[in-house]
Amino acid sequence: MTDTTTTEQFLDGLLESLSLEQKVRLLTGASFWTLHDEPQIGLGTIVVSDGPAGIRGQLWDERDASANLPSPTALAASWDVDRVHRLGQLIAAEARRKGVGVALGPTVNIQRSPRGGRHFEAYSEDPWLSGVVGTAFVKGVQSCGVAATPKHYVANDSETDRMTVDVHVDERTLREVYLAPFERMVVEGGAWLVMSSYNSVNGVTMTENDLLRSPLKEEWGFDGVVVSDWGGVRDTVAAATSAQDLAMPGPQGVWGAALVEAVRNGQVPEADVDEKVRRILRLAGRLGDLDGVEPATPVAEPWPQERIDALLREAAADGMVLVRNEGGLLPVAPGSTTVAVLGQHARIARSQGGGSATVFPQHVVTPLDGITEAFGEQNVRFAPGVRSSESVLPLDGRVSTDPVTGEGGVHVRFLDADGGILLDEHRLSGRLAWLGDPVLGSTAVVEVTGDFTAPADGEYAVGFAGLGLFRFEVDGELKSDGLFFPEGTDPFMAFLNPPKQSFPVTLRAGQTVSLRLEHRPQVQPELAAVMFTFGYEEPFADPDAELQRAVEAAAGADVAVVVVGTTETLESEGFDRVGLRLPDGQDALVRRVAAANPRTVVVVNSGGPVILPWLEEAPAVLLTWFPGQEMGGALADVLTGAVEPGGRIPTTWAADEEDVPVWQVEPVDGALHYEEKLNVGYREWLRRQALGGPAPAIPFGHGLGYTSWSLGEAAVDGLVVSVPVTNTGERAGKQVVQVYLSRVSESAIERPVLWLAGYAVVRVQPGETAVATVELEPRSLQYWSVDDHAWRTEPGTYAVRVGTSVATLGNPLEFTV
Ligand code: BGC
Repeated sequence: MTDTTTTEQFLDGLLESLSLEQKVRLLTGASFWTLHDEPQIGLGTIVVSDGPAGIRGQLWDERDASANLPSPTALAASWDVDRVHRLGQLIAAEARRKGVGVALGPTVNIQRSPRGGRHFEAYSEDPWLSGVVGTAFVKGVQSCGVAATPKHYVANDSETDRMTVDVHVDERTLREVYLAPFERMVVEGGAWLVMSSYNSVNGVTMTENDLLRSPLKEEWGFDGVVVSDWGGVRDTVAAATSAQDLAMPGPQGVWGAALVEAVRNGQVPEADVDEKVRRILRLAGRLGDLDGVEPATPVAEPWPQERIDALLREAAADGMVLVRNEGGLLPVAPGSTTVAVLGQHARIARSQGGGSATVFPQHVVTPLDGITEAFGEQNVRFAPGVRSSESVLPLDGRVSTDPVTGEGGVHVRFLDADGGILLDEHRLSGRLAWLGDPVLGSTAVVEVTGDFTAPADGEYAVGFAGLGLFRFEVDGELKSDGLFFPEGTDPFMAFLNPPKQSFPVTLRAGQTVSLRLEHRPQVQPELAAVMFTFGYEEPFADPDAELQRAVEAAAGADVAVVVVGTTETLESEGFDRVGLRLPDGQDALVRRVAAANPRTVVVVNSGGPVILPWLEEAPAVLLTWFPGQEMGGALADVLTGAVEPGGRIPTTWAADEEDVPVWQVEPVDGALHYEEKLNVGYREWLRRQALGGPAPAIPFGHGLGYTSWSLGEAAVDGLVVSVPVTNTGERAGKQVVQVYLSRVSESAIERPVLWLAGYAVVRVQPGETAVATVELEPRSLQYWSVDDHAWRTEPGTYAVRVGTSVATLGNPLEFTV
C-alpha cells in the first residue's frame, strides 16, 4: 500500500485493534536503542542510533565499527550540499548495515557561543546555512530509507545545566534564528522524526512545550514522531497531553502503567495516545517495519570500504579552512622535501568529538600516518613537543595482551554476587561501555584484566577513567579502592567526562605489568549503563627537553607541520568550554617552531573556535575541525596540493576571549537569556565593528584555496543575483560566492547589519570565468512579525552584497520591494 489516504485508513484499523495497554506500551522504548514491536499488527522492532557523524549501532564499543564522518561543522564549512547529501546516504547505508532504521541526527542547534560543548556537532552560527546543510543531510539519509532526526528542538545551544536550563528567548528571535533550521528540515526536508530537547524554553520544558504542537506539527505540517532526548520525558500527564510522542530510552519511564491509569481516570484523553501511536506506526510504515505498508523508498545497501574511505577523505579535505598562506607556502611538493611533524595531535589525533556523537571507527589515519605516506618515511621526523592529552589512552593490542586468551587487548568478566560468571569475553580495547544491557541487573562486579607491555623505556602511568566504585591493582598490588563521583548533575557524565585515576610505573622497553580493574556498578533502573576506560598514559620525560627536540626537528627540516588542538576534557558533549585557549604549552610550541622554521604550517585540530595568539607569526594556518577517520590522508592531500582545501568558515573565530559576543552560557537562577536576540555570530561582530569594536581573527565565510580570483560586477534581476567569477590563478579552484542582504532605506523593523541569504559554489578552470547565480528565496527578505504572528515582507529598499566572506564584500546593489 502506498497511497497516503489508504495508509492512514489502514492505520485507523490497526489502532482500533489494539488495547489501551498495547498502545501505551509502544510509547516508551523497549531498551536503550529499540522501540517495542507488536506482532499482533505486524509491527517490527525499530532500532535507533546516534547520530550526526556516523552510526554507532546498539553497541558503544569497538566490536561493531562505524564510518566516522567529519564533524558537522566541517561539513558546513564545505558549503557543499551535494556532498552532504551523499554523506547522508552513507549514514543510511551504515544504519542499514547495523540494522538501524532511525539516525539520531543531524544536530542543528545554533553555534550561539563558541563555548558551547557541542559546537562541533552543530553546523553554523548562521540559521540559514544550518538549515540548508541540515536539510541536505536529512534528504540524503531519508532517500535511502532511513529516518533522520533533527535535534534538539529547540534552543539547546549550550550544555551547562542542559537538563534544566530555562532559555528565555523572544518570539521573533526564536523564529528567525533557532526554529528556522528545523522549519526547513521539516517543510523542505520532510524529516520523519524530530528530537525534543532537555531544556525549557520560556518556562516550559521542551517535552511539554506548546512549540511541539505549533509551529512544529500544526503550522509546518510535521507528520512524524517527536522522540524525547534520552530521559527528557519527566511528567506522565504533562508530557502525554503535549505533542511529545515517544519517550526514550526504555523500558522504564514515567509513561507505561502510570499513563494507562491517567487515561482511565480522565487526565489524558485516549485520543492523545492514539495520535502518538499513529505517528509511530506511520514511521514504521515508512521504514518497512509494518506489515501491509510499503516502505517509503528502497532500503540502502552497505557501501564497500573503499567507497566509504574515498568519500570521507574528500569530505574532510573539502571542509578544511586555509586561513593564511603567506607567500604561497602551501602546497608543498613531496619528492625529497623533508618534513618535521610536531605536536601530539599529529599522532593521537581527534577525528571526532566526545559524547553521544562518538562512533568507533575501523581505523583512523592520523596526520603523522598521512604525511608519512605522502612524503615518505625517510623524509619525515616526528616530535610531540608538548604533552597535550590528559586522558588515559585505552589499552589495545599494541600495548596490551589479554591474560586469558593471549590475544592483543583485554579480558572482561561480569560476576554476580556469588562470584558466578555471567559474561566472559576477550575485547580489543579498554574503552568499555554497556548501555541498557539486561546482564547489568544481576552484575556485582565487572572485572577487566590486561598485561601492559611498554613499547619503549620511560615513566608510564596506568589506571582508569570512570565514575563510581573502582578497585585497581598493578602486579597484584592495590593502588586504588574507592568511590569516584565528583559533583555534576548530568547522568551521562560517565561517558562524557569521567574522572581519571592513574599511577606511575617506570618500565624498560618490553617489560610487562599485569593490570586488574574491578568496577562495582550501581545500576539505576532507568539508566542501566556502565562505562569506563582501562588504560595508560605515555611517558613524557622532561617538558623543556621535549620542546627543544621539536624545535630542533623543525629547524632541521624543509617544512615544519605543527598540529595543535583541543582534548576530550576541553571540548565534548555534557559541559561547556571554560575557555578558548589551546591546552598549556601548545601556543609556545607553535611560536618556537615558527621562529625556528620560516616554512611552518600550523594545523588546528579542534571542533570549534580556539584562540590563535600567534596567527600573524604563522606563515600558513589550516583548520581541520574533527575531520573523521580519513583525517591524515585528507591533510596530506591538502598539504601536497593533491586537492585544494575547500572550507569557508561557518562560524566567526575571535582573536581574543574578551571579544566574544556571547560568552556567558551559565544560567542565572536557572535561566539563560538570549539577550543578543537576532544578532548571533557575525551579525553582532559587524554591529560592534561599525561602532569601533574589534575585528575577529577569522571572519565568517573566509577561507583560501590554491588559486586567485576576481569577482566581476554583480547584477540583480528580480530575486536572482548573478556575478561573474574569474579564476585568475594557475590551477583549477573552488570558490564559495556568498550573498548577503541588508536594509538601506528607513526601516521600522530592526534588522541585523546584514544576513546571509544565499550562496553558490563554483569550480572554475584557470583563466576561465563562471557566472555564479543565486536565486534568493522570498523568505530571505522576510521577518517574523510578533504583531501578526506571521512572516512579513517590509516594503522598501534592500541592498545585496556579494563576496567571499563578510569582510570582503563588493559594493551594495540596491533593489526595491
Ligand atoms: C544526547 C542526544 C543523543 C542521546 C542518545 C543524549 O544525551 O543529548 O543527542 O541522541 O543522548 O545517545
